[in-house]
Amino acid sequence: MSDSKGSAFTLAEAEAMRHALDLARRGWGRVAPNPLVGAVVLRGDAVVGEGWHAEFGGPHAEVAALASAGRRARGGTLVVTLEPCAHHGKTPPCTDAILAAGMARVVAALRDPDPEAHGGAVSLRQRGVDVAIGLLAEQAAALNAPFLFSRFEPNRPFVALKLATSIDGRIADAAGRSQWVSGEEARAYVHWLRAGFDAIAVGGTTALQDNPRLTVRGTVTPRKPPVRVVFDRRAMLNPGVTLVATAREVPTWVMSSLEAPAASVTALEQNGVRVFRPASLAAGLSLLREAGIQSVLCEGGGALGARLLADGLVDRLYWVQAPVWLGDDAVPAFPGMPAAPLQQAPRWIAVERRSLGPDTLLVLDKRLCLPGS
Ligand SMILES: NC(=O)c1ccc[n+]([C@@H]2O[C@H](COP(=O)([O-])OP(=O)(O)OC[C@H]3O[C@@H](n4cnc5c(N)ncnc54)[C@H](OP(=O)(O)O)[C@@H]3O)[C@@H](O)[C@H]2O)c1
Ligand SMILES: [Zn+2]
Repeated sequence: MSDSKGSAFTLAEAEAMRHALDLARRGWGRVAPNPLVGAVVLRGDAVVGEGWHAEFGGPHAEVAALASAGRRARGGTLVVTLEPCAHHGKTPPCTDAILAAGMARVVAALRDPDPEAHGGAVSLRQRGVDVAIGLLAEQAAALNAPFLFSRFEPNRPFVALKLATSIDGRIADAAGRSQWVSGEEARAYVHWLRAGFDAIAVGGTTALQDNPRLTVRGTVTPRKPPVRVVFDRRAMLNPGVTLVATAREVPTWVMSSLEAPAASVTALEQNGVRVFRPASLAAGLSLLREAGIQSVLCEGGGALGARLLADGLVDRLYWVQAPVWLGDDAVPAFPGMPAAPLQQAPRWIAVERRSLGPDTLLVLDKRLCLPGS
């Protein structure tokens, strides 16, 4: 097995990297704005240690894995999903721990895009450690897509659109009922998903019709509860809506517009809602980034999702497809998308496919952000 530059990797290293990617996921919701990182220590082909970055400010994955391996690490290979850091941040550089443990080789999936943290590979090589980068790089880039996106694009957050649809691409029945298109497993998955995003967004119609809480009520408790954002140009939300009624408990922001009635905006503000009045969806997303939001999970509805897609503002689609037909009069998932000629229509990249009980999850990325060399 080899990467694009021809570096050779063993089958045991590939297997260890797959495991390290799974370990990295355990930090979901707990490590942002740091990346998710997992690591495995090999002695020959045997796994002798493993670890992951579990908590923001806590030990890095490399340090955790080396600690679990103890003296068995000496002379072995550290397999890690991101280039080890060489700088003093909240914790000492991982390169120091790798040298102290006497590692002979380090295999990393991705280069660190952080201008402060990177340089780990160079500094390890200078001290005689064999370093190879690029094993399962695409999988590692998909795992940390929001983190990598925030390094490449400073002007807006990473935007993921999550929709549960019927087989015929409908998000609600003809009467507007969408509870529930998907089953219990899919809904539990969405609670896990929410924990890893800085903000959860919906359109105004969805906020009014479904009256959601948009809180995280799953197995992972996020380090910071996501901000709830409603795209509601006309400021239709009112204090009877749960999101507004609970705005003092969970931060709730409304993306309205200059056309919204001043009295409606004031009423929202008096209920603890932070109101923004951007001129467009793109401008609204820029305001979110300025306010510290690096990733947004948009949970519909169709009108908002399709507008974001058509404007090129969606980076990832979490599509849950339920085995049910709802028919032509039901609410479409992507209304008004402009026609695209087959030859030129961009193909998205499938980064994950799996079953959620009776439903099917497909995760599609518009592009992969791979840090250059
Ligand atoms: N199955 C699912 O996953 C799922 C998820 C969510 C919702 N739903 C269902 O979907 C239905 C609601 O969806 P929907 O498509 O009718 O509405 P929607 O997407 O929830 O709401 C559209 C809202 O977005 C606002 N918006 C703000 N900026 C916009 C812009 N630049 N372009 C377009 N809209 C903008 C619209 O404002 P204006 O009013 O000013 O246009 C409107 O308030 C409900 O039946 C709900 O139950 C299903
Ligand atoms: Zn580190």
